[in-house]
Amino acid sequence: MPGGEDIIGSHAACSPHRPVGVNMRRAKREFVRVCTISDVPDEGAISVVVDDLPIAIVRSQGRLYAIEDVCSHENVALSEGDVEDGTIECWLHGSRFDLATGRAIGPPATRPVPVYPIKVEDDDVYVAVPRRVRT
Ligand code: FES
Repeated sequence: MPGGEDIIGSHAACSPHRPVGVNMRRAKREFVRVCTISDVPDEGAISVVVDDLPIAIVRSQGRLYAIEDVCSHENVALSEGDVEDGTIECWLHGSRFDLATGRAIGPPATRPVPVYPIKVEDDDVYVAVPRRVRT
């Protein structure tokens, strides 16, 4: 987007992996640079870590998405799965997740995976995740 920022995606339901002792009511979001746009393959994903939170940066059909890089069924990386038509498939048991909403659209996973706001400025990709405030 010329001269501005392009915000893509939104965040979904709370994480099943929320650490004990984190007060999410006080959480704030800040965009953090995670990679360049050329780092992300077409119809593919890379894994980055922001504040100890693994995030899959995914490109599908020319759009970028940020989704937590942990399947909601078991603790495996979604970024290692196949990307197709706005979805990512978990490599272990084959559940598919909608990249825009995080919704599980195929069993055995039934719970969504959190998705996060993502934007591109020039060639840099930024993701906003809750800043965790320990209490
Ligand atoms: S671990 Fe992802 S579907 Fe089972």
